[in-house]
Amino acid sequence: MFEEIETTPLFGANLVAANFKADPRVDKIDLGLGVYRNDAGVTPVLDVVKSAEMRLVQNQPTKSYQGLLGDVEYSRLMLGLVLGEAADTSRIAVLQTPGGVAALSIGFHLIHSVRPNAQVWVSDPTWANHAPVIKHTGLTVREYPYFDQETASLDFDGMMTCLSVVPAGDAVLLQASCHNPTGVDLSPAQWDKVIGICKTRGLLPVIDVAYQGFGQGLDEDAYGPRKASEELPEWVLTATCSKNFSVYRDRVAIAAVQTRSPQNAESTLSQMRRFANVTYAMPADHAAAVVKTILSDDALSADWKAELSAMRTRVHHVRRTLAHALRRATNSDRFDFLERHTGMFSLLPLTETQVENLEHHHAIYLVKGGRMNIAGLNSTQIERFAAAVAQVTAT
Ligand SMILES: Cc1ncc(COP(=O)(O)O)c(C=O)c1O
Repeated sequence: MFEEIETTPLFGANLVAANFKADPRVDKIDLGLGVYRNDAGVTPVLDVVKSAEMRLVQNQPTKSYQGLLGDVEYSRLMLGLVLGEAADTSRIAVLQTPGGVAALSIGFHLIHSVRPNAQVWVSDPTWANHAPVIKHTGLTVREYPYFDQETASLDFDGMMTCLSVVPAGDAVLLQASCHNPTGVDLSPAQWDKVIGICKTRGLLPVIDVAYQGFGQGLDEDAYGPRKASEELPEWVLTATCSKNFSVYRDRVAIAAVQTRSPQNAESTLSQMRRFANVTYAMPADHAAAVVKTILSDDALSADWKAELSAMRTRVHHVRRTLAHALRRATNSDRFDFLERHTGMFSLLPLTETQVENLEHHHAIYLVKGGRMNIAGLNSTQIERFAAAVAQVTAT
């Protein structure tokens, strides 16, 4: 039976990670994988996570099954973090999932179950894993304009023109902040307009919250979801703790769906529970228990916010230093946009050959298409990186 199976290739950051691992050069630099790194090049376990884990080791009474929904109190706290404590959650179906991808998968399976012909509109470009996850559910992927390569900024007119003709009932995937891979976000005024068009045209936003707190701050980065929650009868939201709690491998997120009534929320949740049951059944508890411990304790929450703020500040600092280094190395302002972008990623205006040359001649790994993880650079590597970019773009 299995001799008929064809190999399916790795893509995106997972492909870069595999190539990087196989490279024997000691001075190699990984700017592919989407994880925060400190200036020592380490993705640290946050001190606050260690503190919460210590408490769990001391006090956790059981490791019996948690149930298909996961930890309900964790999900409630996460909704509060994303939507604000005052949000009305009575019409929201929410469950804990093993990471953001599982949350997206449940959201799109749910949409497919009620609207199998719906199209899902994603930004051009978007995170490399979005389209495969959507297509796997049977839904069709379409793209709306998002990134203007010339100016390295948002093509908001193009986006709005496209959304204004998207058929009612289609879904629109939006990233709450720190857009992956471009680093270009909607301003609050632009969010207002996008949510306005979803409202008037009957489009369903699916909001992917993957970097809350990495852009401007916890509240600022949640402007879009909060606005959607106030203005729209229905939406889908996924929020992962991978990045902002730095618990990547422990896999925890939420999938949430706003419905028209508490009764609709109940039946929707039963379907989400069914999707969970036939895939992973129950999410692992550990990271949810950690996040719940932090968010339900004022002192731990304050510690977490301080550590998150330090990560955000470092990313801003690397952006500024890098933009200045590239200005000097290339004698041009063509990389100044790095300072204006937010979050861990920016898309460098490099050709495929230039990205390959960085890899082959300088042992510097970016994702195909030019996405770089800003946080992957430490202060001792910035000048070398800038010189390498200047060299591969010189001809
Ligand atoms: C935009 C975006 N959404 C969702 C995810 C999923 O995160 P995870 O499944 O690791 O929680 C990521 C991870 O890189 C991401 O960049």
